[in-house]
Amino acid sequence: MNEVIDFRSDTLTKPSIEMRKAMYDAEVGDDVYKEDPTVNELERYVAQLLGKEAALYMPSGMMGNQICLNVLTQPGDEVICDRDAHIFIYESGAPAMLSGISLYLVDGKKGIFTPDQVEPLIRPESAYYMPRTRVIEVENTHNRAGGIINPIENIKAIRELADKHGLFTHLDGARLWNASAETGISVADYSKYFDTVSVCLSKGLGAPIGSVIVGDHGFIKEAFRVRKAWGGGMRQVGVIAAAGLYAIKNNFAKLKDDHEKAKILAKHLSEIDNIEIDLDLVQTNIFMFGIKNMTADEALNKCKEHGILLNPGGVNTLRVVTHMDISFEQVEKSKEIFEKIFS
Ligand SMILES: Cc1ncc(COP(=O)(O)O)c(C=O)c1O
Repeated sequence: MNEVIDFRSDTLTKPSIEMRKAMYDAEVGDDVYKEDPTVNELERYVAQLLGKEAALYMPSGMMGNQICLNVLTQPGDEVICDRDAHIFIYESGAPAMLSGISLYLVDGKKGIFTPDQVEPLIRPESAYYMPRTRVIEVENTHNRAGGIINPIENIKAIRELADKHGLFTHLDGARLWNASAETGISVADYSKYFDTVSVCLSKGLGAPIGSVIVGDHGFIKEAFRVRKAWGGGMRQVGVIAAAGLYAIKNNFAKLKDDHEKAKILAKHLSEIDNIEIDLDLVQTNIFMFGIKNMTADEALNKCKEHGILLNPGGVNTLRVVTHMDISFEQVEKSKEIFEKIFS
C-alpha cells in the first residue's frame, strides 16, 4: 500500500507501543464508584497541573465543554463566545439541546475577541425580558481560526470584565497544551483566569480517548452528577485513563515538534505562486492556506491521489494539522508533493 500522510486532524494519532503497555499495566476499578485508581490518579494529576481543586475524567472534549456549560448555567441563560467557537459550530447544537441556553456570538478576529467587544453584549441585570448573560467562553488554541493562541493579557482582561459583571468564564482548552508548549506559559497560568477548563488528551497528546474538566470542589461534584445523567459514567476506565496519564507525561514535551513541522510546511507553501498563506497565523499545529489555481475540492482530490489527506478550511482554503504520527521526513516529502500539485 502506498504511504498516506494524514494532515486531517491531530485526533488521528494512534497509541504508541509504550502507551499501549501503560494501558495494559493499568490498575482498574469501577469509576462510577470512584474506585478506579488510575482514573483517580489522572484526575488528581490534571487538577494539580491546572491549579484547580478538582478534576473529572470525560469520554470526550465535547462532553467536557457541555457539562461545564450545563453546570454554570440555568435554562434561558446566555453564553458569550466567538462566532467560530467549537461549542457553536461543531457541537451539534448541544448548548440548546442539552442545557436550554443560547450563545451570543462575538465577531472575533481569528478567534480572538477583546473585552471591548464583549462588554456591549452583556445584558443589563434589570432586563428580565432578555436572556441572562452567565458565562464568557474562550477557546485556546482556537481550532477554526487555525491553531491561534489567545494572548494571556487579553485573557486576563476578559477575566476582569467577567468579574466586573459577576460572570463565569469557561476555557475550551482542547489544545491548551499547544498554547502552553509554544508560549512557555504554564497551563495553570492560563487556567487561573477561568472558573472551569476542559482539556483533551486525545488530540496532539496522542491518547486514544478522553478529556478532563477542572474547577472547584462544588463544581466537580455537580459535574459528576450531570456526567452520570448524560450516560457518561464509565466503569473500569483506568485502561484508557492510563493512556491519558502517559500522554501528558511523555508527549506534552513533543508538541513543539508538531509546531515546527507546521512552520516548515507553511514556509515552503508560502513560496509557491498559487498558494496564499499568512505566516504570522502559523502559530501552533494547525494552519490554513488558500489556493488560487483550483477549487478546494479539486485540490483535496489531487492531494489524495498523491497520498496526502487534508480537510477543507473554507472556500478555496485547505487546513493542515500536524501531529505526532507525521514525521519530519513526511513533512519533507509533503513539500515536494505540494510543489508538484500547486506550482
Ligand atoms: C477546540 C475543540 N474543542 C472541543 C473539541 C471536542 O473534542 P472531542 O472530539 O473529543 O469531543 C474539539 C475537537 O476537535 C476541538 O477542536
